[in-house]
Amino acid sequence: MKKATICIDKNFEVSDIDKRIYGSFIEHLGRAVYEGIYQPDSPLADESGFRKDVLKLIQQLNVPIVRYPGGNFVSGYHWEDGVGEKQKRPEKLDLAWEVIETNQFGLNEFMDWAKKANTSAMMAVNLGTRGIEDAKNIIEYCNIKGGSYYSDLRKSHGYQDPHNIKLWCLGNEMDGPWQMGHKTAAEYGRTAAEAGRLMKMVDPTIELVACGSSSLMMDTFGTWEDTVLSECYDQVDYLSLHQYYGNQENNTPEFLANTVAMDKFITSVISICDAVKAKQRKKKSIHLSFDEWNVWYHSNDQKIERWCKAPHQLEDIYNFEDALLVAGMMITLLRHADRVKVACLAQLVNVIAPIMTSDTGAWKQTIYYPFELISNYGRGTVLQTVVQSPVYESKQGDAPYLDAVCIRNKEKEELVIFAVNKDLEDSMELTCDLRQFEGYQIKEHLTLTNPDLKAVNTQENPDTVSLSTGTGAKIENGVLHALLCDKSFHMIRLGK
Ligand code: AHR
Repeated sequence: MKKATICIDKNFEVSDIDKRIYGSFIEHLGRAVYEGIYQPDSPLADESGFRKDVLKLIQQLNVPIVRYPGGNFVSGYHWEDGVGEKQKRPEKLDLAWEVIETNQFGLNEFMDWAKKANTSAMMAVNLGTRGIEDAKNIIEYCNIKGGSYYSDLRKSHGYQDPHNIKLWCLGNEMDGPWQMGHKTAAEYGRTAAEAGRLMKMVDPTIELVACGSSSLMMDTFGTWEDTVLSECYDQVDYLSLHQYYGNQENNTPEFLANTVAMDKFITSVISICDAVKAKQRKKKSIHLSFDEWNVWYHSNDQKIERWCKAPHQLEDIYNFEDALLVAGMMITLLRHADRVKVACLAQLVNVIAPIMTSDTGAWKQTIYYPFELISNYGRGTVLQTVVQSPVYESKQGDAPYLDAVCIRNKEKEELVIFAVNKDLEDSMELTCDLRQFEGYQIKEHLTLTNPDLKAVNTQENPDTVSLSTGTGAKIENGVLHALLCDKSFHMIRLGK
């Protein structure tokens, strides 16, 4: 059996957690909107056409923010097409995903839906085929009370009160050659600066996210971040990161070692943000918005017929090992909670998502479980969590068998440990000195484990991979001892 130790000190804090780190993403893509969250002709929908079964699963995930409407989609989107009378809304080609967009669901429906889902919006503007004028107009439509053309237009659509959307993305993945209106870093940096300036003139209380690289693998990574921020440092508050991982080579240890890659990615982006800060002698720090992250590869070879409506697109069926990596990625994000303030699991329903739907119901994919647990119990302050663990060699360098983070919830007087044992054969004895947390007992130990790394959940068998109660954890002389079986995710919740 392997042995690992977690060292914490209640005075050594990384940061309070910004709850928006548990965000997600709904794009007009495949069946995310249509047949996902919105299906007016379904008996499972409410009076607004929102799927009630899906709303319930989303509420349980406790997602404080949802990015919308894209993604690649936003770079060709005219938000005006999706507001006002539904019968008059145009059907248009969506060049990003080669489908027809009916526009039956748009900005106002999204805001209505967000209220019911107990979430808030992170809205993206089109800086691909459109520009700073349209970016200015949409803020006026959403956030100005009335008395101007666009705010009165909103009122005429039945929305007397402004939506007051506080967080906005300045386009999407503008470094990607696949992006409509793809730009060089200098072109995008200037556009982002001017769009941001105008948007904040309309509403100075908003926060803005500039596009970073579409992934660490882009040739332009690094230079892109540096150039873009050099142009728009004053106007923006966050820089975005996107990253998806896959197990194409069917090498699970390498796949799980991607938490090391993610950690390096975050550290590199922080360095670039701080280098620009130093060069420009700024006081303000740029924070990170990891607004697309997940496992994505199962559906890559799928072909769809062009110009159809709401096809089954990017419907990855997640297995148990994917859930382990998702847990590890969330642990990695939390370990950087001082700089990662926003993060979005991409996406939320049907499209590379924790929730799947059919006409007869909705169910939880494997990755739903780590997200649900960490989002609900990972609230409070991240403690510096020193992990002493045996390591294995990987393409990313030494990968620890144990990924872990400790969170202190002062209000509830709780300490929560999230941990993944990446060892595929061996269990691990985890110890943690808790003498500073006098009187703390184990309140709950939940685990996600399965003998089959490729096990999946389906509508017929939705619980093949699901949480169970962990056994054997104990506190002896102020030291926690827990047994983490091979390939497993754990939440150990301690308190008085
Ligand atoms: O999430 C799916 C797609 O991945 C998004 O539209 C795009 O931003 C990214 O490349």
